Amino acid sequence: MKVVKIFLIYLSVAFTASVLIVLYELQCFTVGTKQHRTSVECLHRNWHKTSTDKSSKTIRNPLILYWDYPWHVRRAGDPEGTKIGVCETTYNRNMLEKADAVVFHYTVVNGRDIPWRHYRHPKQIFVWWSGEAPPVLQNENYQLDVFDGFFNWTWTYRRDADVLRNYGYRGDLLKSVEKGKDAIDKIIAKKKRLAIWVVSQCDYTEGAKKRIRFAKRLARAGVKFTAFGKCFVQALPRSNEMRAIVQQHKFYLAFENAIHCTDYITEKFWNNGLFSDTVPVVWGPKKEDLLEVAPLDSFIFAEDFETPEKLAEYLLFVDKNDEEYRKYFRWREDPNITDAMMIEMTRERYPDLNIQTPPKTICDKLLYNRTSKTIRSLLNEFWDRNPPDCIV
Ligand SMILES: *[C@@H]1O[C@H](CO)[C@@H](O)[C@H](O)[C@H]1NC(C)=O
Ligand SMILES: *[C@@H]1O[C@H](CO)[C@@H](O)[C@H](O)[C@H]1NC(C)=O
Ligand SMILES: *[C@@H]1O[C@H](CO)[C@@H](O)[C@H](O)[C@H]1NC(C)=O
Repeated sequence: MKVVKIFLIYLSVAFTASVLIVLYELQCFTVGTKQHRTSVECLHRNWHKTSTDKSSKTIRNPLILYWDYPWHVRRAGDPEGTKIGVCETTYNRNMLEKADAVVFHYTVVNGRDIPWRHYRHPKQIFVWWSGEAPPVLQNENYQLDVFDGFFNWTWTYRRDADVLRNYGYRGDLLKSVEKGKDAIDKIIAKKKRLAIWVVSQCDYTEGAKKRIRFAKRLARAGVKFTAFGKCFVQALPRSNEMRAIVQQHKFYLAFENAIHCTDYITEKFWNNGLFSDTVPVVWGPKKEDLLEVAPLDSFIFAEDFETPEKLAEYLLFVDKNDEEYRKYFRWREDPNITDAMMIEMTRERYPDLNIQTPPKTICDKLLYNRTSKTIRSLLNEFWDRNPPDCIV
């Protein structure tokens, strides 16, 4: 009798357990299809299922999920489905469990609302994306320390980020611009004015204040510039008209709002300057950082001159000397110049510098170098590693 009783107890325990397991699996199955109730436990299990499913022969290309559009503004991000190399991208959070990486632009995640603070699938890479430099984050009161231990990779303009997301790359520039002597003649023939400056942050950071003072001294020393942006009366023209306007000017004042902060070289230098067929006059970045990424002799570095007045004198001199001005386009004189050739030439001239080579995309990194890592402190990774003379 006793044996039968124990056996019956055993049977009912086993039965209850299996019913519970079946119910649990079923719940995972249905929850997974519902939008808002994705439980992390199920995520974990489903992930495991898909990643160990030996029956499926097709190897899926990595999927990158953007948590949201930057600033929650649709046109600020790539359109849904834009590929990065062979990687797929999506904004569809229902794809969360399939995503290899989840990218959070710094404007779409904050300390009050951190998803999965306590649990998530350990294989999934959480990426912190910022194109802005410390001054902007500081001004927006963006707290970096609330994310300690949360992200796996950084995706920023810093070349020591896990993935580089910079404002421009020399190789893309060489592919995109017209090259050859005739092209340069045409560019120079369009030049009607001396310099142009577009600036919308006037006194927002120490760096921004300093650059205004610098520009005022340039102007007083005779460098007349066309001025656009919120710091002046003239509103910004539409971006498609902007390029044509910039092209009429010999120099683009590429003044950043941060001084000597590592790698902070923005669209002012790339898009508005070099890509728009003009010569950037650069103030703010460190010279080595520029030399490492730019084509040879493609820009004027403001700090090479002791004072704004000396820089003004030089700009006015170049303005009067076509041959001198033309030298700043020599990098695109050879119609067959490639990035590899430019890298070689730059290395020969500056053997001690660490010349930038084609950057790896986030897709490359997911495919070939999916390092396991946790960013213990964004503050330290992103900010504190700036040189002591970085002023924001
Ligand atoms: C892989 O990525 C890490 C940073 O996440 C980097 O330090 C390392 O150099 C990379 N390795 C290769 C071979 O690119
Ligand atoms: C560029 O390459 C083409 C085709 O190889 C060649 O015919 C031409 O001479 C080259 N031009 C210069 C300036 O080297
Ligand atoms: C990502 O970071 C989290 C949080 O520290 C960690 O649990 C997880 O193992 C990391 N994943 C990878 C792939 O490095």
